[in-house]
Amino acid sequence: MLKVTSEIYMENDHISEKLGSSNAVTKFAFKCPSYMIEAEFVAGMLNYDSDGDLDVNRDREGAILIEHSVSTELGLVGLQVWRAALLLADYILSHPDLFRDEIILELGSGVGLTSIVASHLAKEVICTDINVGGILSLIERNFLRNRVYVRSNYHIEEVNFLNLEWSKKLEERLQSANVVLAADVIYDDKITDGFVRTLTKLLHAKTKKTIYVALEKRYVFTVADLDTTAPMYEEFLRCVEKYETNWSINYINIDFPHYFKYDRVKHLVLMKIQNNARTVAHA
Ligand SMILES: C[S@@+](CC[C@H](N)C(=O)[O-])C[C@H]1O[C@@H](n2cnc3c(N)ncnc32)[C@H](O)[C@@H]1O
Repeated sequence: MLKVTSEIYMENDHISEKLGSSNAVTKFAFKCPSYMIEAEFVAGMLNYDSDGDLDVNRDREGAILIEHSVSTELGLVGLQVWRAALLLADYILSHPDLFRDEIILELGSGVGLTSIVASHLAKEVICTDINVGGILSLIERNFLRNRVYVRSNYHIEEVNFLNLEWSKKLEERLQSANVVLAADVIYDDKITDGFVRTLTKLLHAKTKKTIYVALEKRYVFTVADLDTTAPMYEEFLRCVEKYETNWSINYINIDFPHYFKYDRVKHLVLMKIQNNARTVAHA
């Protein structure tokens, strides 16, 4: 069986500790944004130095500890961390006002890193994926491991892009979100089709939603095109047309501050999607 390994663990001196035969816990260090340090000040968590001055280290680092698989077959890639998850986490940390006190739904969240970062600002986080290879319990363990950063309520739910028959309770929960996140879920035709149908269903609701989709364009050379193309990204755009979505898609410039350590390669893309349809009632 073909196995894949995310490049992330090899980059930027991440410290990983083996956990059993197939898992590891990796420390994803990040530069604390000033508002996190200020919040500690307000909460009285900062110390005074020997001169009686506040001990404020503006270059302070935080760290999210994530349990993940070291390598997986393609069907279990959610057990690893991918670069787009860190791009989206950086976007959240650099735009706190877009996420503060919001109800945030993450689709295809894998091991939960982006949701954990979001939960520092959000009112509520709904972290979802398909339940294969024990992903949902892995997410729960990672939330518990990082409880110092988790400040919102959170729910971990199964959402499968290929099964949109949600129970009434799940539908209410998912539709309560006003922000939707997805990182690196566009890598397979069938999953991409299901993902676009899931977004269509979510955008067809009373609560106005803003969707952020991060992906890494994976280029291949095809003999048919005699060129390099990013087939999955193009498949995503085709599906958007196929379902006659009336979306506005804006590309976000990815030059916002870098908090996590990873290579912000030029193939990374961050899209902001909203529904233009008149049928959407703005809450
Ligand atoms: C490349 S991983 C990205 C994981 C995580 N967002 C990240 O960037 O690290 C793709 C994610 O899509 C999820 N996925 C695959 N098929 C799915 C489906 N049918 N419904 C929902 N999620 C699915 C996988 O389980 C996995 O979490």
